[in-house]
Order: sequence, then structure tokens, then C-alpha cells
Amino acid sequence: MSLALYRRYRPETFEEVVGQEHVTVPLQQALRNDRVHHAYLFSGPRGCGKTTSARILARCLNCERGPTPTPCGECRSCRDLARNGPGSIDVIEIDAASHGGVDDARELRERAHFAPAQSRYKIYIVDEAHMVTSAGFNALLKLVEEPPEHVKFIFATTEPDKVIGTIRSRTHHYPFRLVPPGVVRDYLAELCEKEGVTVEDGVLPLVVRAGGGSMRDTLSVLDQLIAGSGPEGVTYQLATALLGYTDDQLLDDIVNAFAARDGAAVFQVVDRVIEGGHDPRRFVADLLERFRDLVILAAVPDAAGKGLIDKPADQLDRMRDQAARFGLAELSRAADLINAGLAEMRGATAPRLQLELLCARVLLPAADDGSVLARLERLERRLSTGGAPPAVAAQHPPAAQLARQQAEPGGHPVSHQPAGWPPEDEPAGRLATRLTGQRAAGQLAGPATAEPPGPAAVDQAARPGGEAAAAPSPARPGTARPGSRPAAHWPAPAGDGETAVPARPTPVDEPAVPAAQPSGLDTLSVRRMWPQILEAVKHRRRFTWILLSQNAQIAGLDGTSLQVAFVNAGARDRFMSSGSDEILRRALIDVFGADWKIEALVDPAADPSRSPGPGDPGDRGPGPFRGGAPARTPPAGPRSPAGAARPAPAPAAQPGPAPDLAADDPEPPGSAGVAPAPRAVPVAPEEDVPSEDDPDADELGLSAHELLMRELGATIIEEYEND
Ligand SMILES: Nc1ncnc2c1ncn2[C@@H]1O[C@H](COP(=O)(O)OP(=O)(O)O)[C@@H](O)[C@H]1O
Ligand SMILES: [Mg+2]
Ligand SMILES: [Zn+2]
Repeated sequence: MSLALYRRYRPETFEEVVGQEHVTVPLQQALRNDRVHHAYLFSGPRGCGKTTSARILARCLNCERGPTPTPCGECRSCRDLARNGPGSIDVIEIDAASHGGVDDARELRERAHFAPAQSRYKIYIVDEAHMVTSAGFNALLKLVEEPPEHVKFIFATTEPDKVIGTIRSRTHHYPFRLVPPGVVRDYLAELCEKEGVTVEDGVLPLVVRAGGGSMRDTLSVLDQLIAGSGPEGVTYQLATALLGYTDDQLLDDIVNAFAARDGAAVFQVVDRVIEGGHDPRRFVADLLERFRDLVILAAVPDAAGKGLIDKPADQLDRMRDQAARFGLAELSRAADLINAGLAEMRGATAPRLQLELLCARVLLPAADDGSVLARLERLERRLSTGGAPPAVAAQHPPAAQLARQQAEPGGHPVSHQPAGWPPEDEPAGRLATRLTGQRAAGQLAGPATAEPPGPAAVDQAARPGGEAAAAPSPARPGTARPGSRPAAHWPAPAGDGETAVPARPTPVDEPAVPAAQPSGLDTLSVRRMWPQILEAVKHRRRFTWILLSQNAQIAGLDGTSLQVAFVNAGARDRFMSSGSDEILRRALIDVFGADWKIEALVDPAADPSRSPGPGDPGDRGPGPFRGGAPARTPPAGPRSPAGAARPAPAPAAQPGPAPDLAADDPEPPGSAGVAPAPRAVPVAPEEDVPSEDDPDADELGLSAHELLMRELGATIIEEYEND
């Protein structure tokens, strides 16, 4: 009968204790310096060398040639305290789990006063010290505080916090740690060689993983594998079967199927998992581990060389290939889904079902937003029947760009959606991206600023095709806000843009920006994107975002420079002195891909929080806190150098409903409110003062925030989205 590995390989010197150098080195140094304390506390997870080290320390202390960091191994004490030695009567091990009571403590206290029989010191190793009762500790307190010259204490515990503070503070505390996988791995390889056992590639990582950083557990696992191995040694097959790990083959198969979006293959693997008697949860845990490895591989190509991944070379090649087929974003998304799925499976009564549903989620990119997906699929169908993609894409480079750069509110970068798609889906994919992006834009203009749909959304609403109209639809309940009244104002069921399509007349196809520059960008279109610009600014710097959203508006764009009007000089100066202009410049690059010079002006009329009642409706345009119909947006007064680009103020030219209402309505009667001609003549702010009964003053068009800001002068500092 052979002795367990962990007993045969119990270290006898500090050098043999692996992975705890942070403890063993200073301990040895203290011995070398002859600065030995009278009480030690060794803490740390189980099986990482605490008891072993306590014994080694005792051996070092009592060696005839000691105290020494390297016991001679020949003297009587050293032989007694060797691995298979009989033990020393002067080194007393107490298992506090069974002897932690006050009586045991008292007995220890009395005996401690007798001098050691044969050795230099009488050494008490109190194992599982956290099990000593507080009465027991109190009985020991005096002794631990001022022990006789010949007495040393070594407490070992997994829970140092449970050792009463008065004792702990009298000890030197050495925290042991779990042993890092790489260290365990090397140790195992060495040990297998000593044992003359052949172990197949890929087995040791499994053993390391099963051991979880505890050396004792790891050695037990290896022991069991060796015991069960035949003449060919420990095979991978034996290891996965015995340890219950999922065979890499199964993982390869399902990952490849995910990469190919081959649903049939995915569910066949699931079937094999179940038929093979594997626990679905175990499988999902292993799948998560695999995706973790793939994420690392995608980010760190040399992950194996750096010791981040421990896999046989051929397996590594396969995984590199898998990682490449996904791309980092998609991998990380899949990993998130699997992680969430694993949590859901805990305690689930139908784990197979859970596993299958999880696979379905991973298979469908961004399937977490069913409405987008549904729309996408419809679009694809339409494309395949020859329908041209709506003009949306062509008219909205900014939104498309936004889609590429901005994560959807749900947190999934939109950009990886098309990435995994087969090339023939490209047009649909691109279009979808734009739509999703616009939808995101709509949401950003909405919940992000808690306002009625931003100008972009309105603009899209007026677009042909209906899909865009559905873009800011209340697909998520969370996006519906008081100000937007979507249900009442979207004529077609907003959740389904498709049905609305045929009903939509084409005339609205007209570009909303008649005076667009060749680049397609003019003051108006930039203003329309103001919510997105602010959002991009917010990602870069909150301070700038607050400053801009509360004090500024776009005044004009003259091709190379963008004028931003601030309500007062203070705001402008803060903007400039804080380097916020640079933040805005970069945000504009983010959103438009255009590098404009930023000019900051002062224009009291630029106050974005100007209320519609007493304020100037003409100034309510592009501010972040309003649902700006593009029509009415002359923020800059005559002082603006770009004043010439200022569009007509709305009221006179606008037969339609109030702009805010227009903002809520995709198709206001008469599209003048949507696509007005900019007026070339600058208009003084005063001219825009509305009459008391101006329809613009309608408070129904105001969101809670606007009301708060208007009535109470509230300032938005930060906003959380709760979905
Ligand atoms: N750091 C280590 N280096 C080498 N072997 C270790 C280490 N830690 C634990 N072991 C192995 O695990 C066994 C149990 O270790 P032990 O010191 O009793 O752990 P614990 O920390 O639970 O007191 C030892 O006999 C030894 O074989
Ligand atoms: Mg122990
Ligand atoms: Zn010795």
C-alpha cells in the first residue's frame, strides 16, 4: 500500500515549499538574522503549506546547528522531525478543532512551563487555530504574550480573522496563498517524472484546475489519476472522464458551430452532452472557461508563451483559429451570455432546456433585442426580393458612423453585428447597422438625456421606409418617456415599422436638409446630431458634457470650423480653459469623422435651457434638453459669425403644430415643420419671443426635466438608466 502523494512529498525544508516564497524567504531571513519571534500566525487557504511550514520552522528552530534557515537533517531533532520520522516530544501539535476548549488551553499553559526534554525549544503548533474558543484564547493570552524563553507558538489557520485580536497582535503574521497554476503545473511535471508516470498532454492542466490552487487537493487528484491509470499512463480521456471535465473535442465542436452560426451542429453537441451523461452545468462552466481562453487568445496572441493559457500545442492552434473566426467583441459577448446563463442554471430544474436556450442566445447575434432582429430579418427578406434599401443610409452618414462607434445602450457594440456575417449579407448587415445605430441614436437622444426624441429621431421619423420611423419605437418599455408620448403619436404601431411602410407616402423622402453642403454636413445637420455629439462628449469627459449641455449650442459651421455659442462669457471661458474644446473636437471626430476647429462664442440666446414659455422658441432647437425639430434652431444671435447660416425661426413659417409636438409626430401635417428652408438673414433673439398663447408654450411638450429646469432651475448632473 503506497502512501498518498501529498504525504510522500511533504516538503522538509523551506526550499521545497513552492509558490510561497513571499513567506518562506523572509522567514528564512529572520532565522538567519537570529531574530526569532515567540509566536507566529500562518494563515491561508487549505492545502497550501501552512502546517508543513510550521513543522519546517520547528525543525529549523530545534536543529542542533540552529536556529538555522537550513536544518542539517542529521541531528536527532532533524531526524525526528523528518518526513517519515517519529516526531519530537518537544514539538507539540495541537488540533484546535478537537482540542480548542478552555481546559485544553489551561493544560497547555501548565505544561508549557516545563523545560523542553531534548531540544532547544518547546514548540506548540496550534493547527486550525480559529477553532480555539475565546475562553481558550483568553486562557492562553498571558502565555502567548510573555512565554517562557523556551516556548514558541505557531498558529495555523484558514481564518485568521477568527483568531482573537489580542492573540493575533502578539504574533508575526505570515499569509500563505493559493499556489499559482503555472507553479503547480511545473511541480506536478517534476513529480510525475520522479514517480516515473507518463501523463498525456493536456492532463496536467486539468489536474491543476481541479486542484484549484490547493497543493494537497492537486496532489490528491493526481494520485487518483495515477491509481486509475493503465500501462499507457494517465490518458486525457481518463482524466476528463474521472474529473468530470468536458472533453476539449466537445468544446471544439460547439465553438466551431457557434462560429459558423450552425444551429444544427450546436444542438447536436448539446445532444451529445446530454447523451454522454454530462452535467449541463459542468458543460456550461467548461464552455465559459473555453470562451475565457478564446477572449484571452484574441487579445494576447502569445497568451500561451506568457503563461496565460495552458493547453497542448495542437489544441492551442485550434483555439487560435476559433478566436480568429469570432473576433474579440463577439467572443466577449458570447462569454457574457454564457456567464449569465451559468448563473441562471444554478438551481434550475431543467438544465438541458436552459442549456439549449443559452445556445440559442449565443447563436443569434444581438438577439437580446428581439425587435431589432425582427426588423433585420424583414429587411433581409425584402432585400432578397429586390427592394432597395431605404434612402436612410445614404442620407445619414453621421448616424451610420455613430452606429459603428457607439455601443448600443444595451451595452453590445453594434459594430460586431455584421462582423460575423457571411459576405452576401453585407448590404443588409450594413443597413441594419445603420438602423440599429439610428435606433441607438434615438435612444441616446431619448433616455440618455431624458428628453423627447432628439432631432435625429425626428428626422428619421420623417424618412421613408418606415423602418427608420420604427427606430425610436418604444420597443423597450424603458425608453418611453412622458415627453415623447410615443403610443399616442406614432400612427403606425411603433413596434412594427414594417406594417407602416406601405401606408407611408413617398413625398417625405425629401431630404430634410435642403441646403446641405457637398459633404452633406451643414449647421443644421450638425445641430440635429447635437444629442449624439453630447453623448460622445460625455463618454470622453463628464465635465465638458455638463458644461455644453447646459450652456451651449451649435452656432454655425463654415466648413472648417464649428462655432459654439455659450450663454455667457463665464461658461465660454470655462470651456476654453478646461481644454473642453479639445474634448468637443474629438467627440466631433467620433461622430462625424470630421476634424473641425472649435470656435467658442458668447451668445445669451444660446441658453439650451431657455424655456419655451417665457423664452424664445426659436432658440429651443438643438439643445440637448429638447426634442428639436430641425426647423426651429437658430441658437446663435447676430453676433455669431455663422449667423448667415441661421435658419428661419419657426413660428411664422410654421403652420404645423408646435415643434415639440412635431418632434413627437413622425409626420406632422405639412412637412414644413420638418424640412424648412433655412433663412439666410440673421434674426435677433428678441424677435423670437413668442406670444403668451404661442402653441410652442404648450407644456405638454415638455419632459419632466425641462419642467424641473424651467420651474426650479434644476441642473442635470447625472442620469441613470434603469433597465
Ligand atoms: N507550498 C507547497 N509546496 C509543496 N507542497 C505543498 C505545498 N503546500 C502543500 N503542499 C502539499 O500538501 C500537503 C498538505 O500541506 P499542508 O501544509 O498540510 O497544508 P495546510 O496549508 O492545509 O496546512 C503537503 O504534505 C504537501 O505535500
Ligand atoms: Mg494544515
Ligand atoms: Zn539538524
